[in-house]
Amino acid sequence: MNKREKEAYLRDYAILKAKGKPFFPYAVAKDGAMACVVMAVIITMSLVLGAELGSKANPTTTTYVPRPEWYFFFLFEVLRVIKPPSLVPLATIGVPTLAMILLFLLPFYDRGPERRPERRPIATVTGIVVIAAMAFLTYEGANAGSPTAIEMPTPAHVVKAGGATLGEYEAGKLVVAQSGCLACHKIGENGNSGPGPDLTHIASRLPRQGIARTLVNPTAPMPSFKNLPPQKFKSVVEFLSQLK
Ligand code: HEC
Repeated sequence: MNKREKEAYLRDYAILKAKGKPFFPYAVAKDGAMACVVMAVIITMSLVLGAELGSKANPTTTTYVPRPEWYFFFLFEVLRVIKPPSLVPLATIGVPTLAMILLFLLPFYDRGPERRPERRPIATVTGIVVIAAMAFLTYEGANAGSPTAIEMPTPAHVVKAGGATLGEYEAGKLVVAQSGCLACHKIGENGNSGPGPDLTHIASRLPRQGIARTLVNPTAPMPSFKNLPPQKFKSVVEFLSQLK
């Protein structure tokens, strides 16, 4: 702000101040009245419409898909696409905190007197980019697959075989995803890298019978899966024996 602009601003300010009314009690009274109206509307709505609490929580479900509220979808998506555990705190706490600090400090580093968006290109472009990025991440987060799903490209030979093989593969993939195998095993980019071995290429190590035998009669700490319904058991074995 140069000297002339500053004088013009101070002059306008003095004129407005002479014409205006003090903040207290005029503006405070208006805000207070409006706050009371909003409160009254919320109370009336909660009395008349009630609160939506959803269905009762079911502690035995194994297929529950945890989802954040929609306004956290962008953060959820960031968490989902960033796989290395060491980068997760940086991405989910570091970046948003940094953005908040930058926003908070804006009046200190942007001292320009301009208020029109078209005369503040850097601020305007930054704002648009941030909004567009959050909108994109929110959209992606809203349409993301289930966190209990295994996301990996289907091997070419399975796609080529098609039909029953592909069907069993997909069915088995779903059962594996929902049976807690990923808690101990890694498959592709999914799951934890211990205590069980990586299963991404299990079929090249273990024949079909070996896989079935492991599921029925595993070494601790792996639990036995011999009580899976036969159809599910079959598709799990089928899925794993395609992972060459
Ligand atoms: C509690 C952890 C845990 C869970 C859950 C678990 N496993 Fe395992 N799994 C292990 C461990 C540990 C081993 C290694 C045992 C050994 O080497 O004798 C293993 C071994 C295996 C092997 C043999 C791997 C090899 O290289 O020989 C297969 C196949 C396997 N698991 C599949 C599964 C499937 C499929 C599921 C889900 C239906 C599952 N596991 C769930 C811990 C687990």
